Parts: sequence; C-alpha cells; structure tokens
Amino acid sequence: MEYDACALAEIGDGGKKVVSVGEAKVLLLRKGEEVWAVDAKCPHMNLPLSPGKWDGEILKCRFHGACYNVADGSRVKPPWLLASMGSDTLPTYPVTIKDGRIFVETAGSQ
Ligand code: FES
Repeated sequence: MEYDACALAEIGDGGKKVVSVGEAKVLLLRKGEEVWAVDAKCPHMNLPLSPGKWDGEILKCRFHGACYNVADGSRVKPPWLLASMGSDTLPTYPVTIKDGRIFVETAGSQ
C-alpha cells in the first residue's frame, strides 16, 4: 500500500524526518532530490534511529554505533554492544516523489 508521507519541502537537504505510514513508523532521509525510507527503529535493540548520524549514504545509530546503508538496509558496521543481537538488515521501503510529495510503499493494508 502506498502512503502520502509528507511534502518533500518538509525535509531539508541532508535532513531526516519520522513519519507514520499506515501502522509503521518510518524514517525518511533526504539527499538532494532523493529520499530513502527505512524503519524508524534500529534492528539491534529497537531504539530510535532519528538521532543518528546521516552522511547521505550511511546512517549510524547513536546508541551502539551500528551503521546501515540506507539504499538496501545492509549493516556495514556492527554495534559495539552485543553485536550478535538483532537483525543484520534494516528494513527499507520503496519511495516515490510526485508533485513535491513523498510517497512510501509498505506491505499490508490500510
Ligand atoms: S540500538 Fe542501534 S546499535 Fe544498538
């Protein structure tokens, strides 16, 4: 199901924003005119990713340092604490930008 998440202008270049899409909380990340959507919680210990550091490609969780490539959700650096916990992959969601608005596709129904 595709959801109208927010206006592109609501996120500055290099910025982040947490939005609700259906029942999911999603973190949107913008670089130029591109936007990625990932789960708002880190798969290591389910803590919020929004305070993390974002360099336009890699998102670093501020809690234990796990780093994720936002394009495919792969973990490129494990957390320093209990690295064996949680998933190695951050869920990602397809994004479309239409008429200045960001649409995010998630599984499930409305
Ligand atoms: S909760 Fe993100 S690295 Fe631990």
